Amino acid sequence: MTVNRQVLFASRPGGGSGGWVTEDNFRLVESAPPAPGEGQVLVRNHWLSLDPYMRGRMDEAKSYAKGAELGQVMVGGTVGEVLESRSPRFKPGDMVVGALGWQEYAAGDAAAISKIDAAIAPASYYLGILGMPGVTAWMGLLDIAQPREGETVVVSAASGAVGSVVGQLAKIKGCRAVGIAGGRAKCDYVAGELGFDACVDYKASRLHVNLKEAAPKGIDVCFENVGGEIFDTVLRLMNPFSRIALCGLVSEYNATEPYAMKNLRSVLVNRVRMQGFIVSDRMQLWPQAIGELAGWLKAGRLKYRESVAQGLENAPAAFIGMLKGQNFGKQLVKLM
Ligand SMILES: NC(=O)c1ccc[n+]([C@@H]2O[C@H](COP(=O)([O-])OP(=O)(O)OC[C@H]3O[C@@H](n4cnc5c(N)ncnc54)[C@H](OP(=O)(O)O)[C@@H]3O)[C@@H](O)[C@H]2O)c1
Repeated sequence: MTVNRQVLFASRPGGGSGGWVTEDNFRLVESAPPAPGEGQVLVRNHWLSLDPYMRGRMDEAKSYAKGAELGQVMVGGTVGEVLESRSPRFKPGDMVVGALGWQEYAAGDAAAISKIDAAIAPASYYLGILGMPGVTAWMGLLDIAQPREGETVVVSAASGAVGSVVGQLAKIKGCRAVGIAGGRAKCDYVAGELGFDACVDYKASRLHVNLKEAAPKGIDVCFENVGGEIFDTVLRLMNPFSRIALCGLVSEYNATEPYAMKNLRSVLVNRVRMQGFIVSDRMQLWPQAIGELAGWLKAGRLKYRESVAQGLENAPAAFIGMLKGQNFGKQLVKLM
């Protein structure tokens, strides 16, 4: 008999008062695969995406999206194969991307999943560079911050799923790309393999001095993924009329208190434009973004790296590891 393994959201971090997520917050269970209803498809998930936003879904605090529900399958993006279809839009064998959660089999509404073309790129890329993280990079940089040739773009979490694409897009647009990442190995990869002009290791001391050296003409665009002290330090170097695309604050997701910014005055005196954004707000831009990213990928102008955990049972540890910076590139779980 086929068994469906699922990871449920079992309890809130810190009993609901925030703090670090632990493996106890999840529970692995087994059940029979579901039968698809009318308009649904049964999917065997091959890949699960692990993303920082999932930490936010584990809190009760009001946010831009509904939280994960206790006792239910943990939310998450997936890529898999259609085994059975009760929708004219899909047939068995189709490869699809959707948000079918931390489980091996799922019955998904046909309206909420999309076919992918595994001839263009490996299926897992549709959870990364050709999926939500890639579109986030494209949207925040090209649609919101709109860098001009010759400008300096700084991006934090630069070796990660979003940040690695941001810096490479900045290079394609003729900018100086400066990354911020944790540790020598990540910085060597960002500056060496991804082709950024410089990468500053925030774990080495003197972040402000090193960033100033890496961005000698100041910063025109900040693509912010991390928040906290790193973002506060970047603010000190913003140029007049520069832009900030505020994408994420991963350093604060497991904190019990928000970081208190010290350098907001820079936003005022430099007339900086800062815009927060959520990639799902403008779904109409996704086809253009994915089309352009696929074109640059095919032309060899974008490089991409994945961290792969094996098996659903290892998803909680890999998720916690990703929030601690143990991933190197897009964090995925291989489910078969
Ligand atoms: N607005 C949107 O629609 C949207 C969509 C997708 C993602 N995001 C945001 O984009 C950001 C990056 O997401 P991703 O999927 O690309 O993740 P990722 O960068 O692949 O992985 C997370 C990285 O965050 C860094 N990090 C964690 N804690 C940190 C800390 N205390 N200080 C500095 N860096 C820390 C680590 O890199 P280091 O080892 O370099 O520290 C870690 O590898 C997140 O903030 C996420 O919430 C936003």
